[in-house]
Amino acid sequence: MTQVFINGARDGLNVREFDSLDPAIQELIHAATEARKQAYCPYSNFAVGAALRTSDGTIYSGCNIENGAYATCICAERTAAVKAISEGKRDFVACAVVAQQDNGFTTPCGVCRQFLSEFVNGKDIPLYAAKPSNLPLRVLCTSVLQLLPNSFSFSNGK
Ligand code: THU
Repeated sequence: MTQVFINGARDGLNVREFDSLDPAIQELIHAATEARKQAYCPYSNFAVGAALRTSDGTIYSGCNIENGAYATCICAERTAAVKAISEGKRDFVACAVVAQQDNGFTTPCGVCRQFLSEFVNGKDIPLYAAKPSNLPLRVLCTSVLQLLPNSFSFSNGK
């Protein structure tokens, strides 16, 4: 059987049809898609939405927010995370990221992988990367620690 790889992911194994996913995951991807519409990205013109579900079932979403001083840009994933954490919620159970790239899925940048890894508490969380439209929608199903193996953690700091 021919294997089809999408952005390093083996189609059919970790790339799945949106419709086959649990409704709670679909809801999380939908929240990220909606948040993406608020992206402030006049410099890159690359809109990203992210959503995090916390253990109480709440969804916190966010978009990327850019700045003329480029280094101060914040990614969608960290926007969602800081919204949740600043509301006292940091027990994340799942993450979704939505952006449009024709050639593959958009997965979190290295900074966001590290940022999220701080809050997976050693148990990892699934991460779903999807595109905003191009139906039939397919979803890359991975996890924060799959994206950041052997991640750094500061065990003295807690
Ligand atoms: N970006 C995100 O918000 N999340 C990602 O996963 C990848 C990159 C943003 C940062 C910047 O505003 C724009 O996308 C281009 O890099």
